[in-house]
Order: sequence, then structure tokens, then C-alpha cells
Amino acid sequence: MDMRTKFLITFLGSLFVIICSMVAIFWLLLFAINGQVSSPVQLYKSVAQQKQITYDEQEALVTFRKIAKENPDDLMKPNIQQSIDTYEMKGLNIVIRKQDEILYHSPDLVLKSLIVHAPKFDIENIYTQGTIDNKGSLYRYLKFDFHFSDNEKGSVMILKQENSFAEFLQRWGFFIITLILAIAIFLVIMFNRSLNKAIIIPLRDLSIKVQQLKEGKLEGKIEISTGKKGEVNELAQEFEKLREALNRVSKENKKYEENRKELLSNISHDLKTPITSIIGYVEGLKDGVADTKEKQGKYLNIVYNKARSMNFLIDDLFVFSKLDLQKLPFHFEYIDLKKFLVHFVEEYQLDLEQINIQLTFQDVHLNKAIVRIDVQQIRRVLDNMIQNSVKHMNKNEKKITIVAKQEVDEVIITVQDNGAGMAEENLEMIFDRFYRIESSRNSDKGGSGLGLAIARQIILEHGGIIKADSKLGEGTSITFTLPLKENGHNEGNSISGG
Ligand SMILES: Nc1ncnc2c1ncn2[C@@H]1O[C@H](COP(=O)(O)OP(=O)(O)OP(=O)(O)O)[C@@H](O)[C@H]1O
Ligand SMILES: [Mg+2]
Repeated sequence: MDMRTKFLITFLGSLFVIICSMVAIFWLLLFAINGQVSSPVQLYKSVAQQKQITYDEQEALVTFRKIAKENPDDLMKPNIQQSIDTYEMKGLNIVIRKQDEILYHSPDLVLKSLIVHAPKFDIENIYTQGTIDNKGSLYRYLKFDFHFSDNEKGSVMILKQENSFAEFLQRWGFFIITLILAIAIFLVIMFNRSLNKAIIIPLRDLSIKVQQLKEGKLEGKIEISTGKKGEVNELAQEFEKLREALNRVSKENKKYEENRKELLSNISHDLKTPITSIIGYVEGLKDGVADTKEKQGKYLNIVYNKARSMNFLIDDLFVFSKLDLQKLPFHFEYIDLKKFLVHFVEEYQLDLEQINIQLTFQDVHLNKAIVRIDVQQIRRVLDNMIQNSVKHMNKNEKKITIVAKQEVDEVIITVQDNGAGMAEENLEMIFDRFYRIESSRNSDKGGSGLGLAIARQIILEHGGIIKADSKLGEGTSITFTLPLKENGHNEGNSISGG
């Protein structure tokens, strides 16, 4: 059964319940008033039955019947008006008829209607009571038929207007019931239509859109046409959020998939190249091509360096996959950041001086800044940054500066260089895994594109953030934050210089 039919049935059901309750209340009220439960037949009778003839009506009938019996012609005389007035004042109407001609009728009655609806002459006076219509109003009559002295038929009638409610019901009842039913049906149809517009059609639209989502069509926005706020609209909005999320995830997956494919081909290339040359050099050694001690030493050195770079790549991959799976154990300790950085810079300075790069350390209000870090991992982050700067250094005067600035609850560390820099549009992506700006894999700048992705994961694990600023041709700064140890927070760990 579809929702529309269900709603319709619910509607009709509630209508039925309402009608039943109203009938029950009506009967209860009747019971309270009458002291008995009336059956529908009794009810009809009590409404439609003629009311008992009043004393006035009886008296009028007796008076006029007496005159008709004894001196019928008196009914045609002006004197009779006196008696007529007496009863008319009591709310009765009088009619005197001779043959088919109405000799007298009370002013409330309409003559034409009276002629049409007047009861038949009945000299036996068997049917002396009844109800007639007079121009739309019902009158109950008492009648006496007789003969005038010239033997012409005569009738005297006492009429009293019927109870207005019963009359109203008789006249308008059918029309009113039909009208009420028509209005009820109309309302049911209107409700059903509005429900259809507000709920069923939007839900059907939504279901089609969700079906499309299932089929992988994630692009079209989910909008439904209720036009109003409400649960269905909210539901649609939730689905729209779901679609956006799915779309985002699907795009990310696509990107990762592409990255992964590229990485696979890159790794194959990056591993294949050194392996090929290692094999070449080892064969050279084996076959005695390297015949002097000097040559042999050179060959061995090359083999050693190639193997080392392969080892780095495999290391990075290993670390990244562990970070990705959140399985890399962190060994946090509290250290004095300034000591750690000074030590780090001193270690690098010698190496970098040899390739003409000036590495300096600058601290801004760095005063006993204690941070909780995994020294090895933060070292990995800084290593990658320095190596990136070195790889992209293109100026004659080569400079790399590490700046550490203490804020209220964190330290901001920046590694800046005056190298090649990057275009603005690349800045967001360099932290994505396997992302490298250079499209062709250039051996002297070769890398997996994992360094900054690893760095970001590590900094996040430390409760900090990382970002890049760069100007193409001018230089790059990569900044990350490390939260400062809270005041009074002491876990008894050693505080070392790194
Ligand atoms: N200091 C910088 N100057 C210019 N470009 C940079 C700098 N640092 C990073 N990049 C760009 O960002 C990319 C991503 O850097 P990332 O360290 O993640 O990878 P990689 O250095 O290429 O490889 P890996 O670090 O794994 O050896 C680099 O390929 C480079 O294009
Ligand atoms: Mg790198």
C-alpha cells in the first residue's frame, strides 16, 4: 500500500472516529436530558411527530363546529369576525371555505398556496387533522366539513404553524446533510492534496535522489519543493549534507587513488633506478672492471649511497603507513625547546656550511619553553623541512633560518628559506600525501612527497598545527606550533636538551 492511500485511510478513519464520538456525545446528552437512551426511530418520531393539540385549538374547533352544525350560514356573516379575532389573537389561523372558494383566511396565510394545498372536502369528517404547506411554512390543521343551507360544501379550518425546528429539518434537512457531507469530502480532498504536496511528493523526489546517490551520482544538489520549513525539508537538508560528505569522500578517494597509483609508479621508478645502478656497480666490482683500489672504493661508495637513499624512501613509506594506521608509537618527554633547537642547528650547521648554506637560529622571547614532544619525530619534521629548503635552494647567498617565538600557551616554530618558493595554489596541497610540485621526477630533487604529510600527522599528534607561506622566486616558510607545558603540570619526566 503506498503512502498516499495510507494517509487517505487514516483521514477517513479519523473522520469516522470523530463522527462516532459526536453521535455518542449526542446520545449521552439525550440520555442525560430524557433519562433514557432513544433509538433512532424514537428520535425521529420525537422530532417529526405532531405536537399535542392545544386547548386553544380545541376550543376554537368546538366553537366553529357548533356554529357550522347549527347555523352554518352564520360563518358567512360579518359577526363571525369577532370570534375569528379572538382566536387569531391566540396565534391561530382560521379558514372558511365554501365549495372551492375561500371565504375567509387569516392574514398570515397566503391564499394561492392555500387553494393549492387545502385538504379535500370530507363530509364524514374522518380525516380531521393533518399538516399542510403554506408558501413554505408548515401548518397543522383541524378541520370540520359541513353543508351550507343551500347544500353547498363548506369547511372550517383552524391552523397553527408547526414547530419551526421540525419544519426547518423537513425543509432543509436533506440539503444541510448533503452540504455537510460535501464540505467534509471537500476538506478531506484538500487535506489529502496539501499532504500530498507537503510530504508525499517531496518524499518521492527524495527517494529518487537517494536512489541516484546509491547509483553513485553524487553531483546534483538535493533540493525538494516543499517551499516551507518542516521535517521533510530538514530530512532533505540532512540528505544534502550526506551527499556533500559522500561527494567529498569520493573525490578524496579518487585523489588518493590517483596519488597511490602515481606513488606506485614513482616508487617503482625510485627503487628501480638505484637498484639498477647498484647491480651495475656490483657487477663492475665482480668482473674486475674496478681494477684499482681507488676505483673499487668509489664503486662501493656509490653502492652505499644508493642503498641509503632507498632505505630513506622505504623508511618514509613505513612511517607514513604507520601514522596513517595510527600505529606509530610516540614517546613523549618534556624538554627545553630552546636547548633542543640550538643543539639541532649546531648539528646541521657544519654539514650545510659545506654546501654554502647559512643556517641560523633566532629566538623571540623563548624563555624556558617546556614542551612535551617525541624528540625523534620532531627531529624528523625539522629534517624534512631543512632538506626541502636545501633541495629548492636557487640563490647565490643561501640562507635557512629557524625562528622560535613564544606565545601565551604555545611556541611557533618557523623554518624559512630564500629558495625557489612555491605558487600560492600549491600551498594547501603540499601537506597531502605523495604530493610533489615537480611533475616529472627529477633525480636531484627526488622525494616521495611524503615528508610534509608525515610532518603534518606528527604535529597534529603533538596538538599543534602546521602551515606554509611562500612566494614564488623569493622563498618559503613552513610554520608549526607546539603547545607549551601547562603551569604546574609536572609528570616527573626528564627535562633534557634533546
Ligand atoms: N622549502 C620549499 N621550497 C620549495 N618547495 C617546497 C619546499 N618545501 C616543500 N616544497 C614542495 O612541496 C612538496 C612536498 O614536500 P614533501 O617534503 O612533502 O615531499 P618531498 O620533499 O618531495 O619528498 P620527501 O620529503 O618525501 O623526500 C615538494 O615536492 C616541493 O615541491
Ligand atoms: Mg621533503
